[in-house]
Amino acid sequence: MRVFVEKDYDALSDRASRILIEEIKSKKDLVLGLATGSTPIGTYERLIKAHREEGLDFSQVKSINLDEYVGLDGNHPGSYRYFMDNVLFNHINICKSNTHVPDGTAENLEEYCKAYDSLIDKYGIDIQILGIGSNGHIAFIEPGEELSLHTSIARLKESTINDNARFFNSREEVPDKAISLGILSIFKAKKIILLASGKNKASAIAKILNNDTISTKVPASILKLHPDVTIIVDEEAYSETKI
Ligand code: GLP
Repeated sequence: MRVFVEKDYDALSDRASRILIEEIKSKKDLVLGLATGSTPIGTYERLIKAHREEGLDFSQVKSINLDEYVGLDGNHPGSYRYFMDNVLFNHINICKSNTHVPDGTAENLEEYCKAYDSLIDKYGIDIQILGIGSNGHIAFIEPGEELSLHTSIARLKESTINDNARFFNSREEVPDKAISLGILSIFKAKKIILLASGKNKASAIAKILNNDTISTKVPASILKLHPDVTIIVDEEAYSETKI
């Protein structure tokens, strides 16, 4: 596990985007695992800039997103499909049919989750971007006694609903369930990059880096078992980590 501590959010986004740009240049048909949330926005902005100014080509790139709220379709401004379209896909030359975000309105959610895992097996994710929740969750794999291995329906913790309420008109609008990749689904990625910025991530990052253990109470700590993980944090997110 490599850890880069960057001065601030801009430097973090610079480093993450540089890695992704190199990957896309070296493999035209790269399969990107993508995350939502505010943290990767700066990284996505830099990918858009590289596309506009240097012609970074996404025409053969595929993407697979981590999660989606149950009950929201892609036209809902709080949905992750809406977020991805507006923050990234609409501004680069990726084929929309090559972009995959779980369908929160799928009729048979259990079958849908199985099919989503099959999609991951079929394409194989080259590089997975992750954010982290303030409680240590990745995707919507919440802390608990047990963690789902495969894509499944997750029940969101109160703290996660509170954290994510800023993307909705009110807290009551935030769905309490989501389709989320499982630990194994994420572990199939060849490389993983986890991004964390700001003071409210400091405790979660410290819980991962301050000890030599893993815990289902801190889902992101399981990443220590993956052979190729890069953690990029800014100084605030690193502020509770012992040096
Ligand atoms: C949501 C997403 C996660 C994301 C997290 C952190 O819960 N499901 O994938 O990592 O939010 O979001 P932010 O980057 O906005 O703090």
